[in-house]
Amino acid sequence: MIYYPLTTNTINNEDKKLAIEVIKSGNITRGYFNKIVEKYFSKKFNRYALLVNSGSSANLLALSLLTNNKSRYNLNKNDEVIIPTLCWSTSLYPIIQTGLKPVFVDVDINNLNIDLEKIQKKITKKTKAIMLVHALGNCTNMALLMKIVKKYNLVLIEDTCEALGSKFNNKYLGSYGAISSFSFYFSHHITSGEGGLVLCKNYRDYKILLSLRSHGWSREIDHLEKNKSKSFNKLFNFINLGYNLRLTDIQAALLFNQVKKIDKYRNNRLHNYNLINDVFRKDKFLNDNINFVTNYSKSEISWFNFPIILKKIKNKKRDIICEKLYKLGIETRPIISGNFVKQKIIKEKFKSFARHQFHNADKIHTSGFMLGISSKKIDLRVIIRLANDIRKVIKEVD
Ligand SMILES: Cc1ncc(COP(=O)(O)O)c(C=O)c1O
Repeated sequence: MIYYPLTTNTINNEDKKLAIEVIKSGNITRGYFNKIVEKYFSKKFNRYALLVNSGSSANLLALSLLTNNKSRYNLNKNDEVIIPTLCWSTSLYPIIQTGLKPVFVDVDINNLNIDLEKIQKKITKKTKAIMLVHALGNCTNMALLMKIVKKYNLVLIEDTCEALGSKFNNKYLGSYGAISSFSFYFSHHITSGEGGLVLCKNYRDYKILLSLRSHGWSREIDHLEKNKSKSFNKLFNFINLGYNLRLTDIQAALLFNQVKKIDKYRNNRLHNYNLINDVFRKDKFLNDNINFVTNYSKSEISWFNFPIILKKIKNKKRDIICEKLYKLGIETRPIISGNFVKQKIIKEKFKSFARHQFHNADKIHTSGFMLGISSKKIDLRVIIRLANDIRKVIKEVD
């Protein structure tokens, strides 16, 4: 029996040592390591960078910026934000939580990302932004998407939580939009257990985000702009309805060395993806039974997982296949969270969203699952075993 996990730990002994040093120092809240990791991201992506405590918090900050009355966006209640139906819960929730209206668009079954033809049909006078989800590290045709963004004067937020290190046209995903989010949750490309990052392009946005991240106070902005107020209350001026979404320095220390491996990990993940893809496609049975996902030739993808969409299997047989694979030591999970409008919360609270038909997301919802891909290179023999087990199980259940 093989053990083929969904996730592999990228934290090594060196990372642990640094985290322990932070604990010993006593300076465990936001400090040296936060600042140095932010500097690294800022330089790599040519953006302002803010570490936060999760990818979900990063998305919340992004939407809170859009609706902030001091921001250059100042979106109003019920302004529309386009989002693919294949998304994570907290790609969507901040749109609703900030009073905006999500408008769902189906995905392209070939690449799992938002369908660019269908976007244009959903744009109205109220459309102000796109919450783009780079599903499984893959992306849409970013050149075409940017044309749509420009044509309709939209704000682009990139949910890059699954796509750290991916590139399109030699440019990193997460550096196309006005704002982008990343996740360092345990199952992601690099990890601090929980953790996240916001990148933004504009200095004014950056200042508002700094305040929103920390209680809504002006402290970081004053520090940044060297405002040397002598007032007694200078550290306790509150200027925004903010949150506390900061990352501890223990977590930032865990990221310190991992951030330098982002491109290496992308190449390893790409290597593993190509290996699985080749072995599975050469297997006649698997090739006949799986819809493989593709990517644009101009892209270099830091694959999050390996997606499998079963061509013929229907009626809960996918679930039986995944249960049997689990018993053989092969972990699987749904592709992101499937067609999100099929989730109970949407059916219960937002019935109007659930009424629409999204055929591709539905197919992914009922017939899709994904396998782990690992930041470390996988041995070909393991992939061959994987193909044999998957073929055997599909045949058994079919
Ligand atoms: C596309 C996407 N967005 C947002 C998130 C949320 O990130 P986190 O788990 O760090 O809150 C995830 C998490 O897996 C995700 O896959």
